[in-house]
Amino acid sequence: MDQYIQGNQRLWDEYADINFQSGLYDVAGFKSSPDPLSPLILSGVGDVSGKSLLHLQCHFGKDTLRWALAGATVTGIDFSAKAIQYAQQLATDMQIPATFIQTNLYDLPQVLEGAFDVVFTSYGVLGWLPDLQQWGAIIAHFLKPGGIFYIIEAHPTMRIFDDNDPQELRVKYPYFHEDTPEVIEPQGGNYADPHAVVTQTEYFWQHSLADILNALLDAGLQVEFFQEYPHIIWQALPFLVQDEQGYWRLPPAYPQLPLTFALRASQPEVR
Ligand SMILES: C[S@@+](CC[C@H](N)C(=O)[O-])C[C@H]1O[C@@H](n2cnc3c(N)ncnc32)[C@H](O)[C@@H]1O
Repeated sequence: MDQYIQGNQRLWDEYADINFQSGLYDVAGFKSSPDPLSPLILSGVGDVSGKSLLHLQCHFGKDTLRWALAGATVTGIDFSAKAIQYAQQLATDMQIPATFIQTNLYDLPQVLEGAFDVVFTSYGVLGWLPDLQQWGAIIAHFLKPGGIFYIIEAHPTMRIFDDNDPQELRVKYPYFHEDTPEVIEPQGGNYADPHAVVTQTEYFWQHSLADILNALLDAGLQVEFFQEYPHIIWQALPFLVQDEQGYWRLPPAYPQLPLTFALRASQPEVR
């Protein structure tokens, strides 16, 4: 495996421990009273009852289990062994049927058979992937004819800004993809717990909107919709403000920019 992917795997093992204990992920609250997926996601994906669903980069499986509770037969995959252990523990504790597989996304065709009605992935996934063309081909590989792919993710425009500048939008990262990743040394804490001890370096790739769209189109998928939103579910920039629905937005004085996008694509009935 690539040295950068190995480095990120160590980082995500560390993050899995931090996140599982964190107030942000509130595992105890989820176990006692699991909240559903957001209306935005539910309306974008549609009814999943009786459908098979593959969740890529599932972390410790909260959303995977939410899909199971919505009626899908679910498989979640993630390269963090810690995250997958927590996911399996959560499924067992909550008595929710789910399959979880520990694998690098790029190795998935070698370790998983079959095809799915829905392939789903969300929030904070693309930057860890060096190659979106291969990602698109893997999604197409696992979709049944007529099956749908849905992604909701941080908008590439938002990703160019310095996420540590407390005052203003300052361009720090390139908009376009470069083969060599951004190297981000541990600065103390992570997005779920600013006080946690983080020791591992982060390797992060930028992807333009064209890269994302072309990866799916080149894999033969048909884009059904593409949407942009001026909000995001976590405090991705220090000076975002939270609205009454819990979304983070630029303060009203700023020109509004897209912070999230959602896209739905389908596998043609006949390939
Ligand atoms: C921000 S989290 C996704 C969170 C997710 N939206 C959720 O439901 O909690 C990103 C996930 O991608 C996983 N990941 C990163 N690179 C990967 C790779 N090459 N193969 C598989 N999983 C990967 C990490 O382990 C992590 O769990």
